[in-house]
Amino acid sequence: MAITANGFIAKEDDDTGFISDVEWKGFLKKMKEVGSDIIGRRTYELALEDGWFPDKNAFHIVMSKKRMKSRWENVVFTDKSPREALRMMAERGFNEVLIGGGTLAASFMKQHLVDELILDVEPKVFGRGIGIFTGSDFDLDLELIGVKKLSKNEVQLHYRVLK
Ligand SMILES: NC(=O)c1ccc[n+]([C@@H]2O[C@H](COP(=O)([O-])OP(=O)(O)OC[C@H]3O[C@@H](n4cnc5c(N)ncnc54)[C@H](OP(=O)(O)O)[C@@H]3O)[C@@H](O)[C@H]2O)c1
Repeated sequence: MAITANGFIAKEDDDTGFISDVEWKGFLKKMKEVGSDIIGRRTYELALEDGWFPDKNAFHIVMSKKRMKSRWENVVFTDKSPREALRMMAERGFNEVLIGGGTLAASFMKQHLVDELILDVEPKVFGRGIGIFTGSDFDLDLELIGVKKLSKNEVQLHYRVLK
């Protein structure tokens, strides 16, 4: 995920204008490589509005407690558990899955289902926003496995989640 230097993924009003083109291109490249993602219902709605969803190169699972029907072949909506969503991806042959949305990511972290964090830190801070992990509590240690400079002002931190 792209984050501000103080850990937000969007402003309170969902503005993500702080995310650079370099980061965005890197994300799309990663999405193409991995081929799948699991996102929260709010991220889905905003991505649909912004016009980048669904990605024809990927298979998507959207998580929501609401019952929703898909109009795309490469999109499944589910109200099942995070573990079950990962199992659904594995059944389709995806052993690597990107996770997005602050509430969604926190629910996966809480259940120790995240192996790695890739954080693209943008040169930005703001006081109020949507945190990278929102709404669930957990306490996990990380091992730094990579640092990459993305541009003059942006750095990518790659962590392994210790279990
Ligand atoms: N900077 C970045 O890289 C990045 C990446 C992704 C998203 N974003 C931004 O982050 C914001 C969205 O994040 P958010 O935290 O507000 O919302 P979110 O995580 O995208 O979506 C939250 C919703 O997803 C569903 N959900 C989440 N976890 C679930 C679970 N374990 N089981 C079932 N349903 C689950 C629930 O939907 P229901 O209420 O329907 O049950 C919940 O209300 C947007 O502004 C988006 O643009 C930024």
